[in-house]
Amino acid sequence: MGVFSRALVLGACVMAPLSLSAGTAAAESLTGEQIVATKCGVCHQKDTSGVIPRIDEGRRTPEGWDMTVVRMMRNNGVDLTPEERTTVVHYLADTRGLSIAETEGYRYILEKRPVAEDVGPTQEFTEMCSRCHSFARVGMQRRTKDDWRRLVNFHLGQFPTAEYQALARDRDWWGIASTDMVDQLAEMFPLGERPMKVDPAPLSGEWRLAGHWPGHGDYEGAMTATPAEGGDLTLSMTLSVAGKAPVTFAGTARVFGAGEWRASLSGDGGSIRQVLARSGDGSGLTGRWFMVDDDVVGAPLAAVKVGSGPALLAVSPAYLKPGETTRITLSGTDLSGDPDLGAGVDAKVVEASAGTVVLDVTAATDAAVGPRDVSLGGASLPGSLVVYDALDRVAVEPAVTFARVGGNGGPIPKVPAQFEAIGYLNGPDGEPGTEDDIRVGAMDAAWRSENFDETAAVMKDATFAGAISAMGLFTPNGAGPNPERVKGTNNTGNLSIVATVADGGETLEGTGQLYVTVQRFVDWPIR
Ligand code: HEC
Ligand code: HEC
Repeated sequence: MGVFSRALVLGACVMAPLSLSAGTAAAESLTGEQIVATKCGVCHQKDTSGVIPRIDEGRRTPEGWDMTVVRMMRNNGVDLTPEERTTVVHYLADTRGLSIAETEGYRYILEKRPVAEDVGPTQEFTEMCSRCHSFARVGMQRRTKDDWRRLVNFHLGQFPTAEYQALARDRDWWGIASTDMVDQLAEMFPLGERPMKVDPAPLSGEWRLAGHWPGHGDYEGAMTATPAEGGDLTLSMTLSVAGKAPVTFAGTARVFGAGEWRASLSGDGGSIRQVLARSGDGSGLTGRWFMVDDDVVGAPLAAVKVGSGPALLAVSPAYLKPGETTRITLSGTDLSGDPDLGAGVDAKVVEASAGTVVLDVTAATDAAVGPRDVSLGGASLPGSLVVYDALDRVAVEPAVTFARVGGNGGPIPKVPAQFEAIGYLNGPDGEPGTEDDIRVGAMDAAWRSENFDETAAVMKDATFAGAISAMGLFTPNGAGPNPERVKGTNNTGNLSIVATVADGGETLEGTGQLYVTVQRFVDWPIR
């Protein structure tokens, strides 16, 4: 899948993806600051108080800066070589970026996590500003009030149809956008302080990784980062899912601003990208990796630096039943000491190294049901093991999502959807869907798809839209008109995705919804 490429890509729809492979610039190349002063300065000239209009009035993620710079190239004819685009985006993201905390709640859009809909903080925001794009695109920018006002003006200038697309027959879109929205945006996302740029050098070294790969299972891994040219890091990484051959990758990472880690790697597993955030004191990284060609396929990732002290990353499998003995693997760094899994749960060490401890764990028949902390020596992971007697329900995750037809001779590949069946306990109140529900974890399931409603049944969506595999991966059918369908329509559909899980003597079913829709003809680094 894909050709080995050292280029680190943020991606942009209208222009070739941003290449971050330039390394150190040749002597005569312009620095980021020089590009801003000369190439951008033609229009954005520093004023008498030393402020560069627009450029000093906002802060963004690296992807956000790339989108702005690409628009300057596309709409305003700014002439940048690919290297200059890379240099200026890197410089702007380093000097005018967001802190990691400021991106929290919105990172899923950078990590390309599959979600059905992105809602704003209020219904008004959802209706006004997250119909054409995610609200995350808005929430990951900081601006002065004037700059928010100019952005709203720019929208109507560039997209005069915005008023009609955004429910404007029912409301005075422009009236609200140019007054209320600007006031609220300025209050919620003010320009604020520029965060400190972190030094990427201390991020080099050995890392331990772990995560859950939907459709595949829990994985653990190791990553080595060594300093490369221009502050980048050269990476090698191995991921292992229990019972399967490990996959290895090699590539390059670049760290922007307050700790935005972007890496491109390739290997036996194909070409992947990592979108991670440096956490705490720099001993942690969290985020997601995904396939370059198919970002639905990927997994959340948490990493800790070896040598930063005892830390537990993952417990796998993370559940067991009273009266059962299960082999459980703890992953982390600098692990040593005796395991403690709480009252009524006994653990015998089968194998132990600094990174992995394998245990035979037995839960007593009267062990308390619910989540418990797992600890080992100085490391502990709260709520990481669930004891449960019987599942109360199964939820399909994601509960609602999209797949997209593609291929069939067309230029845009199919976009699949990956589902998982998650077992839940209803918790002390016995009510499903309340705060005290206990998530037990991903269960083996049998999968099927059905017509979602009457309309879908008439159109035979379940027959035409695609099929779901034993691993919960739905693959849509080919793009284009289908002469076998009513009116020769394409292979879109509205489906129920049903998971059947056997638990003890019981069979439980969970249902999710899948819209199989048309191709994404225009894609953005921040959707
Ligand atoms: C030829 C003139 C021109 C040049 C050169 C130019 N810009 Fe702009 N810039 C504009 C105009 C016009 C707008 C307002 C319309 C818009 O936002 O696209 C703007 C808006 C902006 C904004 C505000 C965008 C927003 O989302 O509200 C930023 C930031 C910016 N420019 C940065 C840059 C940077 C960085 C460069 C150099 C790489 C650059 N500009 C070069 C004309 C220019
Ligand atoms: C009619 C569709 C539409 C609506 C409604 C809309 N946007 Fe956008 N928005 C876009 C498009 C398209 C872009 C990408 C512009 C480009 O780079 O050419 C964009 C870009 C942005 C950006 C990134 C700017 C940059 O520099 O790339 C922000 C921030 C934003 N919109 C905020 C908002 C806010 C706030 C609202 C509500 C007041 C809103 N949008 C409503 C279509 C829309």
